[in-house]
Amino acid sequence: MNQLDSTAVLTDALQRAVAQAVLAPSSHNSQPWLFRVRGATLDLYADRSRALPIADPEGRELVMSCGAALFHLRAGLRTQSLDLSVRRIPEPADPELLARVIVRPGRPLTPEERVLAEAIPTRHTSRAPYMGITLPEEFITRIRRDAEAEGAWLVALTSEAARLDLIALVMEGDHQQLSDPNYRRELASWMRPNHSKARDGLFGFTDGLDNIASHLAPLATRLLDRSARESVHDRDLVNATPTVVILCTGGDTPLDWLRAGESLDRVLLRAVTEDVQVSYLNQPVQVAELRPRLRELAGGVGYPQAVLRLGYGPAGRATPRRALGDVLR
Ligand SMILES: Cc1cc2nc3c(=O)[nH]c(=O)nc-3n(C[C@H](O)[C@H](O)[C@H](O)COP(=O)(O)O)c2cc1C
Repeated sequence: MNQLDSTAVLTDALQRAVAQAVLAPSSHNSQPWLFRVRGATLDLYADRSRALPIADPEGRELVMSCGAALFHLRAGLRTQSLDLSVRRIPEPADPELLARVIVRPGRPLTPEERVLAEAIPTRHTSRAPYMGITLPEEFITRIRRDAEAEGAWLVALTSEAARLDLIALVMEGDHQQLSDPNYRRELASWMRPNHSKARDGLFGFTDGLDNIASHLAPLATRLLDRSARESVHDRDLVNATPTVVILCTGGDTPLDWLRAGESLDRVLLRAVTEDVQVSYLNQPVQVAELRPRLRELAGGVGYPQAVLRLGYGPAGRATPRRALGDVLR
């Protein structure tokens, strides 16, 4: 194969991995990432034009979303038997550059890597209520190891008292967020009717809305403070969920957020392999005043980055993603 052919093959392989990466979860399905492929190097950038200044003023979840895309990307590259070295930056000289991945032909995919990579196309957030069936202890141990392998850790809330404390925090978070017209305006701007041609954002069907309700939902969200109703809904969801975990990191820097996103993603992919559904209760992480209380609930060590609800139940549906041409620099 001549130089030109091998470059084309490599570019094709890296672009195929980017196609996997964009299937990652992101807050509000904002997909705040950009990729640049040059030879054997793939750069992952934050796309701050897709930030959520009200819900996520520091860009913490934006970087976490990019971390999730990075884990998807790593898995996608390994399916092509490429070895990779990952340099997680972010570098002061180029704050948008979050990670640089350099690939070379390498080991074949391991069975463990295959299992996680094969979960990518069927991972979707499921916001439905879950059955009250307890998850196997081995599964909890497994996702703990997954989170730790990527630099974070999980705290499972097992006592009734801890669950009640979490419910109080989630309800308070709902009140603070949804009673704020600016928060609601931003949220509404990302909400999409079920048949929208948009390739980003939150589609009504992911919240169980029919077509008509999905058309009305953005306007209703803008105009009405439905925090009382939402908080009761969230209370009931937590009560019906067998397992709730808090994902924590040792620090709270952009690098920690990136690693938190990779950890989150590995946990989400593992859940797919065991038919476990996952959704989020991030209000107490997102509302700054509540985060220290959530930290106490998580043992008083490190920084909570996400709260996950896990259980058996109906799978979520796939949501659109932007075209590759829109995310390749
Ligand atoms: C960092 C992060 C934070 C998120 N926070 C929430 C949340 O608070 N509530 C929620 O319902 N979904 C949350 N999500 C899930 C996204 O809304 C979801 O990933 C996105 O809509 C795409 O859908 P999918 O996961 O089914 O592909 C979060 C995802 C990420 C990566």
